[in-house]
Formats: sequence, structure tokens, C-alpha cells
Amino acid sequence: MSAQRTIVITGATRGIGRATAERLAEPGVRLILHHRAGPELGQAAAAACERRGAAVRVVQADLSQALELQRFVAELAREGPLHGLVNNAGVYEGKDLAGTTEAEWARVLDINLKAPVFLIQGLAAQLQAGAASVVNLGSIMGHRPSAGAYPYQASKAAIHHLTKSLALEMAPGVRVNAVAPGFIMTDMNRGGWEHDAFKQEVESDTPLGRWGQPGDIAGVIAFFLSDASRFVTGQTLLVDGGKGL
Ligand SMILES: NC(=O)c1ccc[n+]([C@@H]2O[C@H](COP(=O)([O-])OP(=O)(O)OC[C@H]3O[C@@H](n4cnc5c(N)ncnc54)[C@H](OP(=O)(O)O)[C@@H]3O)[C@@H](O)[C@H]2O)c1
Repeated sequence: MSAQRTIVITGATRGIGRATAERLAEPGVRLILHHRAGPELGQAAAAACERRGAAVRVVQADLSQALELQRFVAELAREGPLHGLVNNAGVYEGKDLAGTTEAEWARVLDINLKAPVFLIQGLAAQLQAGAASVVNLGSIMGHRPSAGAYPYQASKAAIHHLTKSLALEMAPGVRVNAVAPGFIMTDMNRGGWEHDAFKQEVESDTPLGRWGQPGDIAGVIAFFLSDASRFVTGQTLLVDGGKGL
């Protein structure tokens, strides 16, 4: 039986990617769940989505490695039309300027910036065939500058800008938008929300008074993937409880 919509989510095993996968999982949806690490988390995410009625394929690739990125694209090329792509996989590196190394710069930029661009390039024909919606994960840190985390800030600011450029390139067939989360409780910043003083600092600096949950972001990603946003492209939406105001 052929599925109605095929959606690729990178970094789908944990955090925002996992919440997005579960949010989208329903009968008539085929999810291609990407992950980097061992198969256990991939299988767990797949099982959760299958319980909700989605068809699921799990694909492993380390997006910091050029050859793995190429292999990932080649594997997806056999999928036929794609209706959604969520460029979610990402890494954070929080060092100050003196501690920033070329190796970390390259790794963060490769995963957070290069991989989304070359995934869109490699899948362009399939995205056009499916009249797809692409959602890139930006960040409040690509919007509001702060000291430190230079490769991360650069990667996310660039994603916000390239979301506009790629929206122009891919129109009218494909929409490209970005979601820029504020502080969300995932493994990525566990060191922050498990630290009482920092946790409270973020809460008091956030008009809505709390840290975000992965589901807060998944709902907005689902909106950008849906027909409800059919006349929206090239936009980056801060989903941060007002922290970036
Ligand atoms: N959490 C926040 O507060 C926050 C704020 C702003 C923006 N964001 C953005 O939201 C996205 C998701 O973040 P998250 O908080 O959900 O992070 P997370 O819980 O740390 O999950 C990161 C995901 O990225 C994947 N990944 C990491 N390195 C990879 C690599 N080399 N190749 C392929 N995949 C790799 C991980 O796969 P494995 O599980 O296999 O390692 C994992 O699925 C990221 O782009 C992040 O920058 C998050």
C-alpha cells in the first residue's frame, strides 16, 4: 500500500527530532528517521511512530562525514517524491573565543550548516516532485548574539539567512522555512537546565516564564509542514517563549 506523504527527519532519535517524528506519525505518513549513533535509539523512535500508525524507515549516517552525507543522499534517492524534509540534526559547542578550535569549527559547521544545504541540493528533484515543505532548525543564538559558542552561532545565523536564499531558489514548487528555538529541555543543553541558577536565569528572562519542551517546537514544525502554512516561505519563526524579544 503506498503512503500518502513521505517526510525525512534528521536527528530523529532524541529531543526535538524525536518529538517531531511522534507528532507527525499517523496513518498515511511514511517517516524516514535519520540518526547517527547505534541502532537502539533508531529502533525505539521507529517503534513509537509505528504505534501511531506511520510507516517508518530508519537510516543511519554521520553527517559530519562528507562520504556519509553522500551515501545518505544516495539512499534517499531511491525513495521517490518527498513531501517534507526537517533538517534537525545539530550539535552545540559552547567554548569562548580562545577555546575555539579549527576542528570544532569544521565539525559544527559541517553538521549544522553544510549537511542541510547539501541534503536540499541532493534531494531537490524529489522535493520538487513532492511539492515539499523544508524546515530548517535555526536557533535563538543565530538571532540574538551572545559571547561564546562561535561556530554554533555562525551556523545558525547562516541557516536563517540561507532559509531565505533557498526559498527563492526552490520556489514556486518547494517552500523553505526555519524554526528557531529558544531554550528547550533536551540533551543538547542538559548542563544548563540541570544547573539551578542557570535554569532560573532563563526562566526569569523568558516572558512566558519557562523553558521550552521538545513538543513546543514539534508543533510549529508540523505547522510549517502542513497546508496551513501553504503561503509561507523564507521565514524564520522564533519559538522561544518571547526570550528573543
Ligand atoms: N535544545 C535547544 O535548546 C535548542 C535551541 C535552539 C536550537 N536547537 C536546534 O534544534 C535541533 C535539535 O536539537 P536537540 O536539542 O533536539 O538536540 P539533541 O537532543 O542533542 O539531539 C541532536 C540530534 O542530532 C543528531 N546528531 C548529532 N550529531 C550528529 C552527526 N554527526 N550526524 C548526524 N546526526 C547527528 C543526534 O543523533 P544521535 O542521537 O544519533 O547522536 C540527535 O538525534 C538542533 O539543530 C539544535 O541546534 C536546539
